[in-house]
Amino acid sequence: MENEIKLLTGAMVTLALATSTLVVVPYLQLSHVKPAAGLKPYTSAQLRGREQYIRNGCVYCHSQQPRDKAQAPDDKRGWGRASVAADYYYDSPHLLGTMRTGPDLFNIGARQPSADWHLGHLYQPRAYTPGSIMPSYPYLFEIKKEAETGDRVVNLPPGYAPPGKIVVATPEALDLVQYLQGLDHTYPVFDAPATKSATSGK
Ligand code: HEC
Repeated sequence: MENEIKLLTGAMVTLALATSTLVVVPYLQLSHVKPAAGLKPYTSAQLRGREQYIRNGCVYCHSQQPRDKAQAPDDKRGWGRASVAADYYYDSPHLLGTMRTGPDLFNIGARQPSADWHLGHLYQPRAYTPGSIMPSYPYLFEIKKEAETGDRVVNLPPGYAPPGKIVVATPEALDLVQYLQGLDHTYPVFDAPATKSATSGK
């Protein structure tokens, strides 16, 4: 019996330690975080686009967490400053991602603001990046003979539209592109340390 009690106590202590380091401490550290001053809440179209981003598995190949200079050359890759907790205020669930099969997309809206580019790239990534291994998303588009009122025709590079037809974006594709265009976290955070280093001459 004594051994069972030891085992049970050991298990409870391990569980309590794990819960406090993985749940309680992070909660206490982050519960006071306010949205970054330059961060805008998502519009309803962007929120729908975010759903498409999740549904289509973009998160499995793209991260949204540029790292600090000390950890990775993400700023040299053009992915932006290291992200901070306040950047993710409106993200639930967060889409940090763990894989970087493709580039980090935390600032894709600043790097690539063109809706035409995004729509075309989703329809056929290889039309823009030869040899790209990103999948195409043909079901986010309709192939039509001619445009009807209100249709958003995708301007593809020559030779990529089906012969004699046009490619029209579905509402899902348009929402997804609005979400991607909104991914812009290039506003400054933490002005205090910058002022400090400016005065100390570093
Ligand atoms: C199998 C992995 C994979 C998946 C899934 C994937 N991508 Fe990509 N993506 C890539 C790769 C690789 C590149 C770089 C080559 C290119 O530009 O096509 C890329 C490039 C991009 C770029 C251009 C980035 C830049 O810096 O120029 C955007 C935007 C993008 N992907 C969005 C998406 C979206 C939105 C989805 C989901 C609908 C998605 N990707 C799904 C692999 C993937």
